[in-house]
Amino acid sequence: MIWSLAFLGAGVAAAPAARRRLLLSRAKHPSLAGHARLSRRVAKLIPGLSYPPERFFACDGAPADVVARRRAGFDRLAALYAERFPKGRALTAEARDGLSDLQFTGLYRVPFPFAAHVRAHLGVGAFAERSAGVTVTDVDGNDFLDLTGSYGVNLLGYDAYKGMIAEAVEHAGALGPVLGTLHPVVADNVARLRTLTGLDEVSFHMSGTEAVMQAVRLARYHTGRQRVVRLCGAYHGWWGEVQPGVGNPTAADNTLTLADMSERTLRTLETRRDVACVLVNPLQALHPNGGAPADNTLVDGARRAGVDLPAYRAWLGRLAEVCRRRSIVLILDDVFTGFRLARGGTAKWLGIEPDMVTFGKTLGGGLPVGVVVGRAALMKRFRPDRPADICFARGTFNAHPYVMAATNAFLRWLDGPEADALYDGLDARWDNRAAAFNDALAAAGVPVGAAHLSSIWTILYHVPSRFNWMLQYYCRAEGLLLSWVGTGRIIFSLNYTDADMAEVTARFVRAAQAMRADGWWWCRDGATSKAVRRGFLRELVRERLGRTA
Ligand SMILES: Cc1ncc(COP(=O)(O)O)c(C=O)c1O
Repeated sequence: MIWSLAFLGAGVAAAPAARRRLLLSRAKHPSLAGHARLSRRVAKLIPGLSYPPERFFACDGAPADVVARRRAGFDRLAALYAERFPKGRALTAEARDGLSDLQFTGLYRVPFPFAAHVRAHLGVGAFAERSAGVTVTDVDGNDFLDLTGSYGVNLLGYDAYKGMIAEAVEHAGALGPVLGTLHPVVADNVARLRTLTGLDEVSFHMSGTEAVMQAVRLARYHTGRQRVVRLCGAYHGWWGEVQPGVGNPTAADNTLTLADMSERTLRTLETRRDVACVLVNPLQALHPNGGAPADNTLVDGARRAGVDLPAYRAWLGRLAEVCRRRSIVLILDDVFTGFRLARGGTAKWLGIEPDMVTFGKTLGGGLPVGVVVGRAALMKRFRPDRPADICFARGTFNAHPYVMAATNAFLRWLDGPEADALYDGLDARWDNRAAAFNDALAAAGVPVGAAHLSSIWTILYHVPSRFNWMLQYYCRAEGLLLSWVGTGRIIFSLNYTDADMAEVTARFVRAAQAMRADGWWWCRDGATSKAVRRGFLRELVRERLGRTA
């Protein structure tokens, strides 16, 4: 009797913890991206599979005539690349062995079974020489319309940043790279950033990743709590604690990855006492709970994206309320979206009042920067009543004079009349451009389209082909420059005119038509992305078990 009472007592005591645990697991997104540890374990199980040429073209069971068309199309592209990009390819081959980044991006442009054959024949040069307007010129003298946006840095067009950097060198040149002592321009940057955000204090860093690290560290320091909540799929830089899944070899045990736009996430936050902060990356409005859409995961047609802004704003509003009630620091990670979606940063555009905002990318005026802006109580790195209990964050290059002067050039541009014209009607302009792009593709009868968040686009595929990623190579042949994630992420600079957009659209249509003619979009009757993915997974399992098809 005594024992059973003791058990009952222990059960009652454990019940709230068990309930919290259950709530937490239900607040995770059901995908692998929602389960960091599991995704890492699964990643380790995936065997190396590399299609030899005879399997490459026929891996989906296409009939012989389609396989022949694919082969001919591939050979034609390979010949074109060899002729057009000789210098770029030679330089890339020369640098690759000693440049780890190049080895990685060179292999991870396409799903891994296709990578070796593609790299051998459709190798792309990694070197460029010039930029002007909306074009980038490679080392072979080929002009490309730039769809990379330089990871989002290029908001205004490269020429604008060249001007800002030149101005910065002039402005800060007399002081030179003196560090620790500040250039006077820093004071103006602080004043402008405070006005812009309505927040109290600013700190300068060297990258978006560092800005996020600092914001999270401060949130932990001031709340005395350890847990960091990130929303499923969201990127916040490559620091381990905000990247708990595949790609990070260390365990990020204090990070909780919760589902975006989920009631269960709100309920979980309501019940926990250990959460220091929630990070929000507004880019996720384009693909809530999905990771950055890269072509290297495109083994079917299942890429999903599309914006429901009213729903996203409403959910964020409720998230902000919960954070306020529970004294959880709300960090808006505006590194990517800042100044791209709205002039004053994204917080006002979304209708939220975060406690801290991180910026980076374009804010540096073309030079590397990371910035944290936040409420005074959270930004302090010391406690007056306990002087030894500090939160240390100082980096050698923080507030580098040249970076600060280029940042100042950007901030002054932002306050000037040119910005009025650029931001006026921004949403409608990009909605119209995306609609025209989609109409043209539909009129051409090609199975692709775009989803977009303002000037950030992603290409969607309407057929469950294993080869959708091939489109990036047809695009390059048409003079469209994509980053290593291919058609997953297209970033336009705002100096694109309607005429430039018409040219992009025409080239895209031609690329898609050529791809269709070459048979890459052949699919079995009634094929679905689910079935195609399953077929691919079955192949991996066979490979893992040592049995080839
Ligand atoms: C939202 C967000 N946060 C942080 C980062 C990291 O910035 P950086 O690459 O400058 O370290 C990025 C980079 O893409 C980002 O998009």
